[in-house]
Amino acid sequence: MRVQVAIIGSGPSGLLLGQLLHLAGIDAIILEQRSQEYVLGRIRAGVLEQCMVEMMERAQVAGRLHAEGLVHHGFEILFGGKRHRIDLHGLSGKDVWVYGQTEVTRDLMAARTAAGAKTVYEAENVSIHGFEGTKPLVRYTKDGKQHEVECDFIAGCDGFHGVCRPSVPPGAITEHERVYPFGWLGVLADVPPVSEELIYVSHERGFALCSMRSRTRSRYYIQCSLEDQVENWSDDAFWEELKRRLDPAGVARLVTGPSIEKSIAPLRSYVAEPMRFGRLLLAGDASHIVPPTGAKGLNLAASDVHYLSTALIEHYRTGRNTELDAYSGKCLRRIWQAERFSWWMTNLLHLFPENGSFGRKMQAAEFDYVLTSRAAATALAENYVGLPY
Ligand code: APR
Ligand code: PHB
Repeated sequence: MRVQVAIIGSGPSGLLLGQLLHLAGIDAIILEQRSQEYVLGRIRAGVLEQCMVEMMERAQVAGRLHAEGLVHHGFEILFGGKRHRIDLHGLSGKDVWVYGQTEVTRDLMAARTAAGAKTVYEAENVSIHGFEGTKPLVRYTKDGKQHEVECDFIAGCDGFHGVCRPSVPPGAITEHERVYPFGWLGVLADVPPVSEELIYVSHERGFALCSMRSRTRSRYYIQCSLEDQVENWSDDAFWEELKRRLDPAGVARLVTGPSIEKSIAPLRSYVAEPMRFGRLLLAGDASHIVPPTGAKGLNLAASDVHYLSTALIEHYRTGRNTELDAYSGKCLRRIWQAERFSWWMTNLLHLFPENGSFGRKMQAAEFDYVLTSRAAATALAENYVGLPY
């Protein structure tokens, strides 16, 4: 088979790229190692920046997002037992949308099916070749049969554990990493959210987050130890620990119920640079990870795809490669800003026992500054709603 672009991975990066290329008349295939149901079953974040919402509009997949997504004009931080509101709209003029990554994925998959675009699920042993030259090639196995796809470009949208980044010669790529000494234990439950807006909690027992997917479905997290096993956390134990970290008003309004998903995620900051290797272009989690504190992972995938789709469209429409040449640099500039912000917010709100009382005082001073300086609050808001691209 021959296509213009072979996309590896059908997460948000691969699907959004596929849709934008389809609308531009560029022929692409998506190769995904998992089944469609498996991809839709992964529970991930759920806060979209305004720029990402605009991208969903451009990709003609924003109908359900506008009907069902919740616009949030601000969020709260509970620090030292007191709640403080960050007025995102008042400070930045922008909002964020609560809409689950699962729903984004579902909408993009539906558009792909409607367009009759080529997707191979359960593609095994995907391997990429020849991207340093002019004739890249992708091999995979499906139902025991070997297949080959010739293409002009390979888009590595296969997440952190994918095959594309490890296929780059080690000397050509530089990795930067910080691993945090804790994880997030997350619970999804069909109960109404404790509050209209998200609450980020900094507590002496550790961080907590009250988030949501809809008016009837809540997503809660508590900071946990890396040694914790999800099997050892009963629903009751989770709710009890969450209550310990909430304020009395929150405890009074909290509705608990059986979890429909429960998992532990480690926290990591990671960037591999550059993002282009000849005719291989990495996007999304394949090239970077942020800790979830700033809700940036999904949004960074979207900005990468914005730059990548622009570059490929320029190439096919005009024959010029100005945007392809600029791709890595443009992405990385925004990625490093989001890395800084996610790292900062993680440091501000989590319990780092190894930093002692001095560390806690630094967090309190930093937070005090956010509350008393409009400039500091604006910096937080501007980053949370997403830097422009
Ligand atoms: N061959 C084919 N597909 C693969 C391979 C492989 N060897 N390895 C991984 N994949 C698939 C995964 O099964 C997954 O469906 O690539 C997809 C990558 O999707 P994501 O991990 O969701 O990454 P991305 O699309 O970049 O989305 C980034 O998702 O992980 C979250 O927090 C992250 O919200 C961010 C967003
Ligand atoms: C979520 O709803 O899963 C979520 C929201 C905000 C974050 C992280 C995760 O910062």
